Amino acid sequence: MSRLEGQVALITGSSSGLGRATALAMAKEGANVVVNYIGRQEAADEVVDKIQAMGRGAMAYRADVSVEEQVQAMFAAAIEEFGALDTLVNNAGLQRDANLIDMSLADWNKVIDVNLTGQFLCAREALRHFMAREERPEVSKARGKIICMSSVHEAIPWAGHVNYAASKAGVMMMMKSIAQEVGPMNIRVNSIAPGAIRTPINTSAWETPEAYSALMELIPQRRIGEPEDVGNVAVWLASDESDYVHGASIFVGGGMMLYPGFADGG
Ligand code: NAI
Ligand code: BGC
Repeated sequence: MSRLEGQVALITGSSSGLGRATALAMAKEGANVVVNYIGRQEAADEVVDKIQAMGRGAMAYRADVSVEEQVQAMFAAAIEEFGALDTLVNNAGLQRDANLIDMSLADWNKVIDVNLTGQFLCAREALRHFMAREERPEVSKARGKIICMSSVHEAIPWAGHVNYAASKAGVMMMMKSIAQEVGPMNIRVNSIAPGAIRTPINTSAWETPEAYSALMELIPQRRIGEPEDVGNVAVWLASDESDYVHGASIFVGGGMMLYPGFADGG
C-alpha cells in the first residue's frame, strides 16, 4: 500500500521548487494535495494536472500565507473540498538579500512576515482543524502532522541575509515549541532544514560553473541537492514510518552542517 494513501496534504508555495516536488512526491504515495500559490496560476494548475493524472485529488488555491484572512479562507476551502486535512507543509518562503547597512525595514518585514508569521498562521489553522475533527486512524497514526520548511540557516549564520537567517532560526524555535505543546494531542511537528537545493530561490548559487564550484566547497557530498531529495523526506515525515519522530529538524544538505572548512584546516 502507498505510504500516504487517502491522506490530504496542504503545501504552501507549491507551484515551484521544493513545494512542487513535495506535492508530486506526496501524490505519488497516495495523497490528495492542496497546491497553494501566490504567483502564476498556470504553474499551480500544471502541478494540479500532474497530480490528477496520477489519480489523486488536487486543487490550486491562491493565498498569501502572511495574511490571516487569506490563510483562514484557504483552510476552509481545502476542508470543504476534501473533508479533512492530515498534513500541513509550511513551505512558502523567500529571500530579500542585502547587507545590514542597506537593508530596508520593508525587506526585513517581508521576510519575517512570509517565512515566520506565515508559518505561524498556517500552523495555527491546521492545529484548529486537527483538534476540531475526529482522529483518522484509517489513514494516519497521528491526529495531524505539521512539517516546517526551515533551512541550514536556522543554525548557520549568513552575512548579507540577516532577515532570512533570523526568520529560519525563528522557525526552528517555533516548530520545537509547538511540538512540545501539541505532542500530547498526538500531533507531530517537525522541520526539514535543507542545504543548497536547485530551485529558483538560489539560481545565482549554481547557474554558472564558477558559482557551482564555489558552492561545492560548502558541501561534503560535492553535489547540489535536487528538489526530490527534500520531497522524499517530506513524504517520510508525513507517513507512519516516522511516527516516533517529533520536534526534530532534519538536515537535508549533503553535509553542509559539518563545518566543511575544517576538512583540511584548523
Ligand atoms: P521557490 O522560490 O521556488 O519557492 C518558494 C515559493 O513560495 C514560491 O512558489 C513562491 O511563490 C511562494 N511564496 C512566496 N511568498 C509567498 C506568500 N506570501 N504566500 C504564499 N506563497 C508564497 O524556492 P524554494 O527553494 O522551493 O523555497 C521553498 C522553501 O524552501 C522556502 O521556505 C525556502 O526558504 C526553503 N529553503 C530552500 C532552500 C534551497 O536551497 N532551495 C534551502 C533551504 C530552505
Ligand atoms: C537558501 C538558499 C541557499 C541555501 C544554502 C537556503 O535556505 O534559501 O539560497 O542556497 O540555504 O545556503
